[in-house]
Amino acid sequence: MKQAENELLTRVGKGTPAGELLRRYWHPVCVSGELTDENPLKRVLILGENLVVFRMPLKEGETKHRYGLVAEQCSHRSASLAYGRVEEDGIRCPYHGWMYGADGTCLETPPEPPDWAYKNEIQHAGYPVEKLGGLLWTYMGPKPVPLLPRWDCFAREDGKRVIYVESIMDCNWLQPMENSVDPSHLYWLHGYRYGSGHLVDPVQLEKRQAQYLEKHEFIPYEYGIMKRRITPHGTDEHPLIFPCTLRHVSGERGKANPLYRHNLQVRVPMDDTHTRVYRVNFIPMDGVRSPADADAPWELRPLKFEEGENGRELPMDIPMTKYDTSIVGAQDSMCWETQGAITDRTKEHLGHADKGIVMLRKLLREQIEIVQKGGEPMGIIRDPSKNKILDIPVINERIGLVRQAAE
Ligand code: FES
Ligand SMILES: [Fe+2]
Repeated sequence: MKQAENELLTRVGKGTPAGELLRRYWHPVCVSGELTDENPLKRVLILGENLVVFRMPLKEGETKHRYGLVAEQCSHRSASLAYGRVEEDGIRCPYHGWMYGADGTCLETPPEPPDWAYKNEIQHAGYPVEKLGGLLWTYMGPKPVPLLPRWDCFAREDGKRVIYVESIMDCNWLQPMENSVDPSHLYWLHGYRYGSGHLVDPVQLEKRQAQYLEKHEFIPYEYGIMKRRITPHGTDEHPLIFPCTLRHVSGERGKANPLYRHNLQVRVPMDDTHTRVYRVNFIPMDGVRSPADADAPWELRPLKFEEGENGRELPMDIPMTKYDTSIVGAQDSMCWETQGAITDRTKEHLGHADKGIVMLRKLLREQIEIVQKGGEPMGIIRDPSKNKILDIPVINERIGLVRQAAE
């Protein structure tokens, strides 16, 4: 790959080719439960833009909170709205009290006369916010705003939803997405017990022999790339939902088994070299309901030992000690970060096992071009009748999840 193409595929800022493509999709802003009456706002970084998300207090008669998302720097003289005050109809700057509505409309400029017409010319950036599956989402692209896709783990209500927020990864978003079409790393990266001497796990070692009996297929479908592993023990599928999500299913199947979970991993491009991963698990359970528009239980899942934390003396120049490699997700993260902040794809040597990665890059290039020519990229949903619950018929025969006959 030429360096120019690496730049083209990875950069996320406004006006960059991939940045403009990524702005055609909804991205998570934060977990909805993070915003409370006591802590009604949060500073966030999405697609290279510093923003403040906030939850307005309920007005009389309201049962649902309204949310706003606006540029962090005040349009008056750039003080941070992350230190602002959330009021009934918006957020007020801490410096001179300018007030912005949920969509960035400048509502008040208190030190100025009330009829100051210049106020109406101020265009403070603001983006729509919707709540679904325990997350707040935003869309930062051109209007008309498409529908927020109601993927099953976000929209299903017949069970329990739990969200894990992982440590921020110091790397570009495309590295985790390429990992999602890279089944050949499974027995290698996840087949060690890391720690003293990096022990080989005997069970994994046995499985690793089996990889040569496996076949991997990558099948383009309406929403991305279906990654299929055909093994002697059964077939499983983990679809990539273009551009930033991986669908997963794991655990033993059975009623109320908390280990059996459907899972969507959403990777948020924060800027060119930082990525936030949200894992939304959905465990089907009889008699348990989780409304799609309610807050969901969530926890932070640190994958890395930060310097000075956890009482560890860290030789930070030895990467293996930086990650909590007892967690599978941390093993992946270790590889994404050590590939480099934006991995240098001019230095790669791709082989047969990398054909999913080649397919993803081709798809990304094609979708960038569609947007550049003024078209609509794949997977944009505008028809509400298609968006009741978006279900991908994944299979995982090894845990007894087989494809249902079409209804
Ligand atoms: S800088 Fe925000 S009101 Fe002056
Ligand atoms: Fe992995």
